[in-house]
Amino acid sequence: MPEFIHKPVMAAEVLTALRPAPGGRYADGTLGGAGHAASLLAASSPTGWLYGCDRDGVAIETARARLSGEYAGRFEVRRGNFAGLADWVPAGSCAGVLLDLGVSSPQLDAADRGFSFQQDGPLDMRMDDRQGLTAADLVNGASAEELAGIFWELGGERESRRFARAMVQDRAQRAFTRTRQLAELIERLSPRQGRKSHPATKVFQALRIAVNDEIGSLKQGLAAAVKLLQPGGRLAVITFHSVEDRVVEEFGQEQARDYTFPGAGDVPELRQPCVPVLKWVSRKAILPGEAELRDNPRSRSAQMRVLEKI
Ligand SMILES: C[S@@+](CC[C@H](N)C(=O)[O-])C[C@H]1O[C@@H](n2cnc3c(N)ncnc32)[C@H](O)[C@@H]1O
Repeated sequence: MPEFIHKPVMAAEVLTALRPAPGGRYADGTLGGAGHAASLLAASSPTGWLYGCDRDGVAIETARARLSGEYAGRFEVRRGNFAGLADWVPAGSCAGVLLDLGVSSPQLDAADRGFSFQQDGPLDMRMDDRQGLTAADLVNGASAEELAGIFWELGGERESRRFARAMVQDRAQRAFTRTRQLAELIERLSPRQGRKSHPATKVFQALRIAVNDEIGSLKQGLAAAVKLLQPGGRLAVITFHSVEDRVVEEFGQEQARDYTFPGAGDVPELRQPCVPVLKWVSRKAILPGEAELRDNPRSRSAQMRVLEKI
């Protein structure tokens, strides 16, 4: 089995948020290397139960192997998108749900998965390799306007249009197939010149989010999580960039309101009363502590928000 080592982010904070206890049922929609899953099972011993899923086949194999020893008979793990959790996890059964978004260290580090601009690999970026669309399909097939929209909306890339136009020009000579080929084009257009982050960081992030429809999955996953929760059950979501964090905050606000309004704008005269579904445990984002930031640089953009089902 391939090695899969991922340090769980904010492990202690997740336990404080979800309060695992014997007899409780928990769902982890982003199993990864099962670090959080194992700590939820340990803290709910001897009778806590875990439902877990991940889109990534390697992650699922690793998680199953890791949990099988000590926690055999106390979990059910399936490969799939967390958007579909409510299709197989009983409604109202869970005391806690965790979504620890994004990609794991082993996914980023394996050159052949195509997530990294630092190592050469196929321009792939699929979390689930059974899916058709790859990053190469997008870069070679989307219009300059579509690409610029992806880079700007999902990556906040200020040079989105210039980069997109250059890609469309370059691909007319030779299709993009490799990660370094794309990274080198961006390096040529925007030399690093002492900047801390690599100039291709935002483009790669945006492509990954688009290829895996991460925002669409997140919106569906949040709705599914609410169905799974029992009253008093808690949802913890760890995000790694502002686009997904905004989705979580807006979702929480909408579910915690005691009124609805038609359309996109909240016009006080048009409000209709409703019963809120969730309340904030921590609307303010919880951040990793200093020791973790020192110890695990990948935690530096993590933020956790916590909601409770009413
Ligand atoms: C940051 S890692 C999770 C690490 C995990 N908490 C641990 O302790 O090892 C994110 C994982 O979520 C998975 N993932 C991301 N989006 C997903 C989705 N929509 N459905 C299922 N899994 C997803 C990725 O494949 C990756 O394995």
